[in-house]
Amino acid sequence: MNERKKAEERFAKAFHANPNPMGICRFSDGIMVDVNEAFLKHSGYEKSELLQKSALALNIWVDRHQFARILQTLKTKGRVENEEVLLRNKAGEIRTIIYSAERISISGENFVLFSVTDITERKQKELVMRRLERLSLIGSMAAGIAHEIRNPMTTVRGFLQLNMSKLASERDKEIFRLMIAELDRANEIITNFLALGKDCSLPKQTKNLNQVIMELYPLIQADALNSHMNISLDLGDIAEININENEIKQLILNLVRNGLEAMDQPGEVKIITYMKNNQVILAVRDQGKGIKKEMLYMLGTPFFTTKAEGTGLGLATCYSIADRHNATIEVTSDEQGTTFYVLFPL
Ligand SMILES: Nc1ncnc2c1ncn2[C@@H]1O[C@H](COP(=O)(O)OP(=O)(O)OP(=O)(O)O)[C@@H](O)[C@H]1O
Ligand SMILES: [Mg+2]
Repeated sequence: MNERKKAEERFAKAFHANPNPMGICRFSDGIMVDVNEAFLKHSGYEKSELLQKSALALNIWVDRHQFARILQTLKTKGRVENEEVLLRNKAGEIRTIIYSAERISISGENFVLFSVTDITERKQKELVMRRLERLSLIGSMAAGIAHEIRNPMTTVRGFLQLNMSKLASERDKEIFRLMIAELDRANEIITNFLALGKDCSLPKQTKNLNQVIMELYPLIQADALNSHMNISLDLGDIAEININENEIKQLILNLVRNGLEAMDQPGEVKIITYMKNNQVILAVRDQGKGIKKEMLYMLGTPFFTTKAEGTGLGLATCYSIADRHNATIEVTSDEQGTTFYVLFPL
């Protein structure tokens, strides 16, 4: 056996046995000529579905511009290293991938040897961690300040109330009432904000989420009617879970209100419950304008709001309530609307 053949065999072995998903495609037209076992496992494709087809034809690349950019770099530099890209697997899921590739020559023809590392889960975890860190940092700083602000506010409110009774004119009284109402509003914001930092668990009861939703329904419906929107329910057969009812009501209300506020034209907010993978899922779906992708990571940050009248505490409260129920929140969103999922483990 000559040296070259031996080297090729060594390469083939390293390629096929490699635990990292890898593949080889022709440089001129992107046609796949080989992929390893790890790649098949990761992408969900059979080998026969991939070979002799181009990645573009297979619709693997989510962003064609990204693909073109990588091709250009390969042309000019001969390699790309650790580029973060979005690839679609066979099931249609979009995965976040670290992509590296190198132009290689086999028997005088140009090929691209590429390898991919899936960081989707890691990125999601990082996102959650960042949110939690932000919450606890902002929380501990602001909790101190919020507490201190309340005392002078209580004093001012007391004096306003005392002096209001001495006023003769109805107009002056109205102004005082307004001042008191504004102080109460500020106080409520502080109360909500302080509740975010609460890490002790409130008393919980075993209850069916559908029942909680039904109790809340009249209130939600009144909200919807006020804004000329519709509410619909699709409540499935779900297991009972351990919840603090008041907190869960607050969570549902905040999500539904966001849904109603997201719709410019009359539309519908749907509350859905079902079981999936041993979890009780609560979904709130709206037909609103959606959330921009670059905003998604900001959701749940206290005081993040895009609304003129918003406080930006609604979702932060939801995340903190979910956290106290060991539940997680997931979001999907496009121009047709947004769905918030709350996943309660059994
Ligand atoms: N269903 C949704 N559709 C579109 N955007 C949403 C939706 N839910 C939340 N958002 C975005 O997230 C931001 C933060 O929401 P959050 O509920 O925390 O605050 P808010 O609704 O602005 O104010 P608050 O709830 O305190 O009155 C909103 O301002 C909005 O931009
Ligand atoms: Mg809100």
